[in-house]
Amino acid sequence: MKILGIETSCDETGIAIYDSEQGIIADALYSQIELHEEYGGVVPELASRDHVRKTIPLIKQVMQQANCKKDDIDAIAYTKGPGLIGALFVGVGVGRSLAYAWDIPAIGVHHMEGHLLAPLLEEDKPDYPFVALLVSGGHTLLVDVKALGEYQILGESIDDAAGEAFDKTAKIMGLGYPGGPALSKLAETGRAGTYKLPRPMTDRPGLDFSFSGLKTAVATLYHNSDKDEQSLADIAHAFQEAVVDTIYIKCRRALEQTGHKRLVVAGGVSANVSLREKLSELLESKGGKAYYPRPKFCTDNGAMIAYAGYARYKAVLEGSGQFEEPAIRAKPRWPIEEL
Ligand code: KG4
Ligand code: ZN
Repeated sequence: MKILGIETSCDETGIAIYDSEQGIIADALYSQIELHEEYGGVVPELASRDHVRKTIPLIKQVMQQANCKKDDIDAIAYTKGPGLIGALFVGVGVGRSLAYAWDIPAIGVHHMEGHLLAPLLEEDKPDYPFVALLVSGGHTLLVDVKALGEYQILGESIDDAAGEAFDKTAKIMGLGYPGGPALSKLAETGRAGTYKLPRPMTDRPGLDFSFSGLKTAVATLYHNSDKDEQSLADIAHAFQEAVVDTIYIKCRRALEQTGHKRLVVAGGVSANVSLREKLSELLESKGGKAYYPRPKFCTDNGAMIAYAGYARYKAVLEGSGQFEEPAIRAKPRWPIEEL
């Protein structure tokens, strides 16, 4: 079975084909980062227009790459939400229209479920149940995953998402947009212990996060610093360490609370090397294991949508799921627990 996946929820057009026998057989990604860079953040209207330009050409490219004709595709999966409404409309419209023209099912996928399932594209994949840590530009969630579609939110950010905290802090430090990767690169040359930042909400029980105070703390450090290369690196190091430590503490609690021995880490921030090292150590110390997507499937991509669509389609064929209602909808807000 082959599923074509379409992702257009934010500033990346991602297209891929998942084959149930061979895995991902083709994928392409067009990032709009350059387009939004001069504005210091995603401009929704520009994002939608660019998805209109790129979606069909990328579908053609991926079909060619995989040597597929339309008759080879069994279903189309598209991101239905959450995300920017205009950007979502492009994928929803193209996906549903193509499925209609090709007379095959269309599957509306939850973007965060796509991230959550991305580690299942790897050879060494986790079995259910597991704790999922979803850390992206828009969301920070700790989820108890009992099975496909059985999700219970254990904790979430009450203000900025982890990726958003990286991006806003990077912006304060003049590192461009989106600054997460640049900030973590700079942190590598920073010295441990030069600055100490708080680990927000770790001094009380619970699994929620709050990252917005950290950027204010960094702003103060930054404005009072010499702004030379070494002090910037030291500040970046202190910031990253605070975020990673906070996430580490909450993950440890979530594992204790659920008793699960597997942790799945996904979303853009799961590309962060320091976070990966720390969480892998945690799971090893507990006799469990941490699972991550390969780096290119950490940030938004079409492969995770194709795979989530496949998992959903398979569940329907096996009698344990339902297809979407005939009404065509995009859902900018969509709690994962509604699945
Ligand atoms: O999952 P994603 O592509 O988009 C959303 O669904 O939001 O995540 C993008 C986020 C951005 O905030 C970006 O700065 C962050 O992931 N990010 C990183 C790293 N790579 C990407 N943050 C920290 N360290 C990284 N290496
Ligand atoms: Zn995402």
